[in-house]
Amino acid sequence: MDIKTIKALQEELSTLIGVSGHEDDVSNFILELIEKENLADKAWIDPLGNVLAIKNGTNGKERILLDAHSDEIGFMVSHVEKNGFLRFVPIGGWDTRILLGQTIIVRSKVGELYHGIIGSKPPHITSPDERKKPVKIPDMYIDVGMKSIEEVTNNNIVIGVTGTLFSPFVDFPNNMVRGKAFDDRTGCNVLIHVLRMLKKNSSFKDTLLFNFAVQEEIGGRGAITGAFKLKPTMALAIENTTAADVPGIREAEIPSYIGKGPAITVADKSIISSPKVNDRLVKNAEIDNIPYQYKKPIFGGTDAGKIHISREGVPSSVVSVPCRYIHSPTSLLKLDDILSTIHLIDAFIRNKAGI
Ligand code: CO
Repeated sequence: MDIKTIKALQEELSTLIGVSGHEDDVSNFILELIEKENLADKAWIDPLGNVLAIKNGTNGKERILLDAHSDEIGFMVSHVEKNGFLRFVPIGGWDTRILLGQTIIVRSKVGELYHGIIGSKPPHITSPDERKKPVKIPDMYIDVGMKSIEEVTNNNIVIGVTGTLFSPFVDFPNNMVRGKAFDDRTGCNVLIHVLRMLKKNSSFKDTLLFNFAVQEEIGGRGAITGAFKLKPTMALAIENTTAADVPGIREAEIPSYIGKGPAITVADKSIISSPKVNDRLVKNAEIDNIPYQYKKPIFGGTDAGKIHISREGVPSSVVSVPCRYIHSPTSLLKLDDILSTIHLIDAFIRNKAGI
């Protein structure tokens, strides 16, 4: 494992389209990869679409769940105009200020991809007053270049079809890459590399449970059913989190920094992390000299928010790869942070600290 294999998988995973509730392309890709490389003792897709996997340990007492979500934020077609334009609703939390003028990819009912453009009333026919106000999503449309509702329908673009912003994967200096859906294909990337490391070196005790979970962005729904099925005694959500280390932000408001390693959550809006789980993370990071940082509380929420209150309760925490411009099509992260996150999860599993 090195930066090259991490980058290759990051590109493959993030290029797939898997808006919440429509993750089939991502789930199938992950299950095929696990089966092809023989990475787990058991792997399957559950009724909701989660990819679940189990890797048996030797004689550990814990059942550790590692969860990363496979879905991404996007849009759903809510109406087709007679002249072929699409109206849409957001799926997940978008900053609507960035939408106008963007290219979108629409995934038809049969999985074919079409480009579209998000438009609204052009500036030269709006009044100066109108131009001062942000355009709301109900006043936007998607132009897929088709001339009628019949043409759109014949191409299997119907109410309920999803799409997301188009954004090619691009190299930046200093091992940084830019792309779409890094939240949370990055976590999926980490988990697949963790599985690869476990295959190479099988000296671990605890039973490991994996959930590549659907529907996180609309309320951690796949995490709920995955945790119910797998019955963990301890859990980590592997995420992609906000690195607001950019001009104009006070230090106290910066949740995490690019290049400083995985960010460990102590608390967010959905969970107060288990001190025991965080101890196991931090002590093992220190033994193996893995960089880490604490994510400043109390921003956001993750699948761990659902997992830790499943069944009779599961001590849990969150480990995140810092990422700038999260929830936009131009997310930017440093591949070294993914590498350190893989090492941290691997060290957590092997638990030299004996916690
Ligand atoms: Co996420």
